Amino acid sequence: MTEGASLDQRVTELAEVASFAPPETFRARARVRDASVFEKADRDRLAFWAEQARDLDWDTPFSTVLNDAEAPFYRWFEDGTLNASYNCLDRHVAAGLGDRVAYHWRGEEGEERTITYAELLDSVQRFANGLRDLGVGKGDVVGIYLPMVPEVVVAMLACARIGAVHNVVFGGFSVEAVRERMAVSRARVLVTADHARRKGRLSAVKSALDPALEQLTDLAHVVVVRAGGDAAEPCPMRDGRDVRYDDVVAAAAATCPAEPMEAEHPLFILYSSGSTGKPKGIVHSTGGYLTGVSYTHRLVFDLDAERDVYWCTADVGWITGHSYAVYGPLANGATSVMFEGAADYPHPGIWWEVVERFGVSILYTAPTAIRACMRWGSEHPARHDLSSLRLLGTVGEPINPKAWLWYHTVIGRERCPIVDTWWQTETGSIMIAPLPGLTETKPGSATHPIPGVTADLVDGSGQSVPEGTGLLVLTEPWPSMLRTLYGEEERYVRSYFSEFGPRRYAVGDSARRDADGYYWVLGRVDDVLNVSGHRLSTGEVESAIVAHEKVAEAAVVSEPDEVTGEAIVAFVTLRGGAEGDPETEAQIREHVSTRIGKLARPSRIVWAEELPKTRSGKIMRRLLRDAVQNRELGDVTTLNDPSVMTALRDRIASGG
Ligand code: WTA
Repeated sequence: MTEGASLDQRVTELAEVASFAPPETFRARARVRDASVFEKADRDRLAFWAEQARDLDWDTPFSTVLNDAEAPFYRWFEDGTLNASYNCLDRHVAAGLGDRVAYHWRGEEGEERTITYAELLDSVQRFANGLRDLGVGKGDVVGIYLPMVPEVVVAMLACARIGAVHNVVFGGFSVEAVRERMAVSRARVLVTADHARRKGRLSAVKSALDPALEQLTDLAHVVVVRAGGDAAEPCPMRDGRDVRYDDVVAAAAATCPAEPMEAEHPLFILYSSGSTGKPKGIVHSTGGYLTGVSYTHRLVFDLDAERDVYWCTADVGWITGHSYAVYGPLANGATSVMFEGAADYPHPGIWWEVVERFGVSILYTAPTAIRACMRWGSEHPARHDLSSLRLLGTVGEPINPKAWLWYHTVIGRERCPIVDTWWQTETGSIMIAPLPGLTETKPGSATHPIPGVTADLVDGSGQSVPEGTGLLVLTEPWPSMLRTLYGEEERYVRSYFSEFGPRRYAVGDSARRDADGYYWVLGRVDDVLNVSGHRLSTGEVESAIVAHEKVAEAAVVSEPDEVTGEAIVAFVTLRGGAEGDPETEAQIREHVSTRIGKLARPSRIVWAEELPKTRSGKIMRRLLRDAVQNRELGDVTTLNDPSVMTALRDRIASGG
């Protein structure tokens, strides 16, 4: 039997095992081995958080921990000042760690760049001065739309250094998404790339953006990073507006002292999907956010900054990239791997090659990636020496036990604890997760809230549900929580603090709590989709579809998918009762791609003469979900015309 096949056999054997204690070799050396940390946090939560915050370097120490006078607008450590880039760079260099590698960068074509803390500090200072030369000051918004190149980290930290607020847009989002996010946040500068490389293809970024940039009246400058490699043609530059990153850095002064910021000064905005078509501009603070990410990064990943090589595979365009590929690891002085490419380019074993090459000891990724690797076959990881790994993590969506066991066996070789981490863009940092040296894990459960965090399950009226299924709430504020939605304070209150009051944060997920008190997060209860661990809203996808000239109406639901977790199914009614055809289907998919990004394209389109609606005209997505999943329809008493569902079921049965 090949090694891959015997590992697969072991995965099957382990299916009977309900829980996994931390491996003894791991436990013996773990940072946290007993439950006293929970007791300490429970005894005095605020003192506990203050202690975590004091692990950072403050220019002015804080004297108050939490100000909740204007709940749900919470203020943490408010009279303290600090700088995030100082905490991520200068203090490590000052401690003699300048030669420590901050990032081992690996490009798509196998190029490597090693960036030490001292080098990163140097680049950040220069680019911070460069941004100032372009007129950027404290509180100004700087957009960042870059592939996974080291300059993305430089740009983020340069903003933090001078108090500019970065607004990163995921490189997989469309030009239209960039335009919208820059317009609503009134960005002054956009840092982007000439080209991006993806699976051996080069795509133009800057020139594709150009027409949209013309419409951005607040945008004074565009900084262009050369990310397309040597073969890429130079992109067109507009005089007076566009500047090359290399020129900006070359012309800038070498030193730029980090400016002390009030703890509550916004560090960044990150747009994420809500339940309506309009993305939410989630605002994070400086002091509280950095406290949360550095604390959790040490605790949950059992970080030993001197020895570990840590790799978070998330793109920086998502919150996981912000918190656990940039701010958390850098604040802790960790050595990270940054990988530009896709998981299957140039071959499906590339991740395991990278793990072996850099001796990765902590790997943090998403269930969807694990499922894809599973599908490509255990022979790929089996070909590599993965003995450097000692801890594995997952994030973004519930992990099915089969994928958990595969990760545990084929990647972790039963030596590595798995931390299934539950959190959100809004929470800033991990909220529910095992402590790897302490918590017994159950495949598929994120286990318990971490020390300092308090959660509960409640029913629709807010009553606690001790055991069984309920709505997940976080019952006390925490330092890294979002502070508001950019420019939409009322929406902030309504989205998170109207359902269960100003102290109980409504998560938007349902979960189950078992007899041992373990949390099993089931998924969203609102109209938010989770495709490959990426958050999208039904409303957003629907408005992109409806914007197509032939479309009269659309409703979007998800169905389970083996690899992506959820897949998007769109029900579309065409104008004038027209019949759908493959050409229109292709056009609609393309339309969604240009409006939002490829990741939002429906996997199926079902042509619907009519959509199921209530008597007051509201689309009943719930019934559509039942129909695509071939379940019995739920409550149909409010449905205006029952024949609509009969017709749709016939459509689905005949393949759309
Ligand atoms: C889901 C990503 C189950 C959940 C960090 C949440 C999870 C949404 C897990 C947030 C997990 C995230 N188990 N579900 N370990 N982690 N989710 O804002 O539905 O992109 O509300 O943040 O992802 O997605 P977001």
